[in-house]
Amino acid sequence: MTHSSPWRRDFPLLSVRSHGQPLAYLDNAATTQKPRQVIDALGRYYKTTNANVHRGSHDLSNQATQAFEQARQTLAGWLGVADPSTLIWTRGTTEAINLVAQTWGIQNLTRGDLILLMQSAHHANIVPWQMLAERVGARIAVIPLQEDGDLDMATYRQLLEQAPKLVALTQVSNALGTVYPIAQMCQQARAAGATVLVDGAQGLPHFDTHLSELGCDFYAFSGHKLFGPTGIGALWGRRELLESMPPWQGGGEMIAHVSFDHTTYAGLPFKFEAGTPNISGTLGLAAAVGYLQQHDRLTQEAHELTLQTHALECCATVPGFARIPAGERTVSLFSFVLASHHQQDVAHWLDSRGIAVRAGHHCAMPLMDALGLPGTLRASFAFYNTLGEAERLALALDELVQSERSQISTSVPATASQPQPALDAVYQARDWNQRYQALMALAQSAPGLPAEFKQEHYLVPGCETRAWLVTALDDQGRLACRADADARILRALLVVLLSKINGLTPHEVSTMNLVASLEQLDIRRHLSPSRGNGLLAIIRHIEAFAETPNR
Ligand SMILES: Cc1ncc(COP(=O)(O)O)c(C=O)c1O
Repeated sequence: MTHSSPWRRDFPLLSVRSHGQPLAYLDNAATTQKPRQVIDALGRYYKTTNANVHRGSHDLSNQATQAFEQARQTLAGWLGVADPSTLIWTRGTTEAINLVAQTWGIQNLTRGDLILLMQSAHHANIVPWQMLAERVGARIAVIPLQEDGDLDMATYRQLLEQAPKLVALTQVSNALGTVYPIAQMCQQARAAGATVLVDGAQGLPHFDTHLSELGCDFYAFSGHKLFGPTGIGALWGRRELLESMPPWQGGGEMIAHVSFDHTTYAGLPFKFEAGTPNISGTLGLAAAVGYLQQHDRLTQEAHELTLQTHALECCATVPGFARIPAGERTVSLFSFVLASHHQQDVAHWLDSRGIAVRAGHHCAMPLMDALGLPGTLRASFAFYNTLGEAERLALALDELVQSERSQISTSVPATASQPQPALDAVYQARDWNQRYQALMALAQSAPGLPAEFKQEHYLVPGCETRAWLVTALDDQGRLACRADADARILRALLVVLLSKINGLTPHEVSTMNLVASLEQLDIRRHLSPSRGNGLLAIIRHIEAFAETPNR
């Protein structure tokens, strides 16, 4: 078993450090890093070829147009699409799905029609259909997952008997990594008379897909998950469907002739490409595909799966580690939880050790609801990751569990009536690592909120972690607020915050700069924006309360 990856040196960003340690980038499902070939292609375009496409009357514009259309051909060839004009450039998967929902959907769906969605779908393959359903009065039914994480195919077949108009499938789950039997599902859906869209955002980064063999009607994907630039992706559709669909956005490029009386539209693919496209993005994406074509994708896939197996074997020895079931076949991505640790706390700990993972609902809230979890941690690997990085993940998780165990056994437990020592330790910490430990101890000592206050009414919107704030004045008219959060780091910060304001008059609080008062702890630099914003949301609530306490 080799510990390196032969492809790693092609990705310059992977040599950066994070929090003073080599970066272990395990958040590839969110976006992938870019090989030098892609970065160079972007630079080369702006240095040598930059001009607008399809409308120029000069050599540079012709060159840009040629390169732009060549990129479309490269992508089409790679995807097994015989007719490049059926490949429409979009900003990414989200825009591609919205395009179909708002053109084909509005044209073809009507009141009472059924749309089938998957339980594990990304919000991008749910919300556009909900918006459509609301607009035309269609119904939505959901294909559930089984307990083992695989799709419930028996229920799928039953749902198909209700003759859905549209089936929106996901090739690979971004939250679980499951590879679904898409070709079979497309075939069944089409046999039932449905039109099928496949969200391929998480499939293409891991294995080649030939659309001619998949059997879907529409296929959507994003370049940035495919080692290409952000802001570029595509929709492929069957020619007869694309031709029958009305245009989506109006403007330049998508027209044949415009007069104030009547406008006629361009043919494919331009009918759906209004305005100046992301020219450099298409060239970068073509370079990414060129890069993939130069390598043996089966070897890359095998390496990724070795990483996944090794990571899971190492993590299995960490007390409290539990993988979320993902069915029989997955790509190199897994979701997990660590017993008694909030996922945001774990992600924060890993980040402090240079390991980038994703924590939260992964834009799959309906899946999290079905799992009965507020969120999970997700480690997602690409072929440039190494076995060493897989081991670092497991080691860091183990360290977290062990450090907490020793903390519990050695620290004097602060109590609700004696929180000051724990609070003092936060201020006295010499560096962030020590402060983090002190914050964790403070969170453990915090009394928390009784269940009757952990209700919707007290939830503060704006953070990924659930946080509750109960604003109140004592009988002398001074602030006596209470707060709590699911993640320990936020709970601790709330204790710090409340220690600054409780006991003061509303007027005193309203003249304070609460954000600045926390700066000395260097918190903002170490908090993810979502958590940082969460804290900010709570500060804003307290400020509003201090302004009008009797409202
Ligand atoms: C399965 C899936 N579908 C759709 C999307 C949305 O992709 P984009 O944000 O690039 O449009 C994502 C992104 O995470 C995804 O994983």
